Amino acid sequence: MSKRDLLCLGPITKLEIGQLIKRAGVFKKGSRLRPLSGRSVGLLFEKSSTRTRVSFEVAVWRLGGLPIFLSFDDIQIKRGETIADTARVLSGYLDALVIRTYEQEKLEEWRDYATIPVINGLTDLHHPCQVLSDLFTIKEKKGRLKGLKLVYVGDGNNMAHSLLEGGAKVGMEVVIASPKAYMPDLKVVKLAQDLAKKSGGAISVLNDPLKAVAGADMVYTDVWVSMGQEAERKKRLKILKPYQMSKKLLAYAKPDVMVMHCLPAHRGEEITADVMEDSRSVIFEQAANRLPMQQAILEMCIGKK
Ligand code: CP
Ligand code: NVA
Repeated sequence: MSKRDLLCLGPITKLEIGQLIKRAGVFKKGSRLRPLSGRSVGLLFEKSSTRTRVSFEVAVWRLGGLPIFLSFDDIQIKRGETIADTARVLSGYLDALVIRTYEQEKLEEWRDYATIPVINGLTDLHHPCQVLSDLFTIKEKKGRLKGLKLVYVGDGNNMAHSLLEGGAKVGMEVVIASPKAYMPDLKVVKLAQDLAKKSGGAISVLNDPLKAVAGADMVYTDVWVSMGQEAERKKRLKILKPYQMSKKLLAYAKPDVMVMHCLPAHRGEEITADVMEDSRSVIFEQAANRLPMQQAILEMCIGKK
């Protein structure tokens, strides 16, 4: 039996993204549908989380289901139980798994052994649920997706990768401005370029943040030190310093540019405090939109049995 996993945005269709955005809009208006009634969803987190954990827990509950949060300290993985065994056991109790872990390959292993849908709650390589809700936010605010220019400035990390894939799917122009040391993964860039060819979008990767930001409809940034990279902190802060999202950088974008950040933010590092609080910032609306989009994702993956 085929199951509906969500590991990254490469395999999802433009039509499905459109449907998810529509359904998120319905959930945001307060739909009382209970498609998860009698179902349970496991949230397995190997890294910290504020937004993803809480929005998924509340989303499952709002849809009528039971969320069960388990950090990797709670389960037997650290004591040597394999992913293959754990995935098969949990498939007997649960209807889906939302997993936050390090390597994408580990997530694929969970996907391979679980007989229930596996949803990526963030890996080192991708953060697809964040980008789906960001596309929802952009559509809400700008009224369209296709043809808009989104510039991501900073570390070529999991956020950059999912923005590349998601933006390419919906026909946006996605520009990544990163230093040579922290460019996005070449395989992801190539895939996004192929996807953009089909959708009418465009993908480019530059090193110059000022040049990249010219004419941007949205500017996006993320932390310079992602979870798991703490030992590289000093080096990263030094190399990424010219990529800070500041008022000076925003001046190069369109006057009605929208400032985006997935959070958590580090004021004075990747973004200045005044830009965080600027009237052009939609950062906290972005965070709020995680909840209705998680509802739409859960409905897509497990709601219609
Ligand atoms: N943006 C995001 O995924 O935040 P958390 O790490 O707090 O879940
Ligand atoms: N790049 C960040 C995203 C946090 C939501 C990290 O992986 O820590």
